[in-house]
Amino acid sequence: MNRILRLRERLCGLASWDASRISDEWFRAHFEYAADVVNHWVGGVLDIPSSRFLNFGCGDGITDLSLVLRYGATSIHGVDVRQEYRKLPRIAREQLGMQRIPVALTFQTIKSGDALARAGRQYDGIMSWSTFEHVRRDQLATILADLHACLRPGGYLFIQIEPLFFSPYGSHLRRYDDTPWHHLLASEEDLWRVIESHEGALDPAEVDFGFADFGVDGYKRFVFNEYKALNRLTADELVEFAKNAGFSVAREERRFLDMPVPDSLAGQYPKEWLLNNEIFLLLRKNAV
Ligand SMILES: C[S@@+](CC[C@H](N)C(=O)[O-])C[C@H]1O[C@@H](n2cnc3c(N)ncnc32)[C@H](O)[C@@H]1O
Repeated sequence: MNRILRLRERLCGLASWDASRISDEWFRAHFEYAADVVNHWVGGVLDIPSSRFLNFGCGDGITDLSLVLRYGATSIHGVDVRQEYRKLPRIAREQLGMQRIPVALTFQTIKSGDALARAGRQYDGIMSWSTFEHVRRDQLATILADLHACLRPGGYLFIQIEPLFFSPYGSHLRRYDDTPWHHLLASEEDLWRVIESHEGALDPAEVDFGFADFGVDGYKRFVFNEYKALNRLTADELVEFAKNAGFSVAREERRFLDMPVPDSLAGQYPKEWLLNNEIFLLLRKNAV
């Protein structure tokens, strides 16, 4: 089947697409911003069109689609514990008028912690966007070691996390609760009450395509459970885990919010944790 699709694409080219049709802000944020950032970081060290990529925690695959359409990627294998990527053909039809997604994209559902290296595919690059803060802490070391094993020597892993847990909106609940650091100040019960009683529209850029499956109340429960499962990783811890897995840091950038820290938190947590809301981390597997 895949061979037929490849042949058709080789003969007919990629299905046509039209970015002026984009109406969904979540789609736009991934198709434009996330893909631009990945291209900026990864495209600086790898030739995107000729590289084989793995996207760890690919979600709905919108960023991957953009990397193919806008940056010429020819091979991206997305893996995720959920199956949001199954919506991509419909999403691409609705948002781009695209009749079929490129054969460059393949997707796979995995179980958290599955040894991906066992499949024997070697990648030039791996990207992971807004995913590592959701990985179970007790699996971080083995997952990073596995991703290291998936790369060819000299290959790169790019990780982005935003927001980091201890930062003002590190709960990932801002779409319901705009109080900075509320998750560090309020009890879990109080936090849930704020979310449960929330009414009105959400920021469209924060509403993913899973919302329709859950409905208003189901989405609140889903997002709150995601909050409770966050691994609370700090930027330093992420770098430490990566180094222990065998990576060296090729480049990194940490972004900070400039906000007054409440006295009650200043004594409890390092200021650096409280204000560092984002990390971009480019890791290299050393050539042997
Ligand atoms: C916030 S979403 C980001 C998805 C996508 N990267 C994006 O930018 O839209 C986090 C993703 O990580 C996935 N995830 C969480 N733990 C994972 C694991 N252990 N292995 C693979 N994917 C995981 C979730 O299913 C989810 O799709």
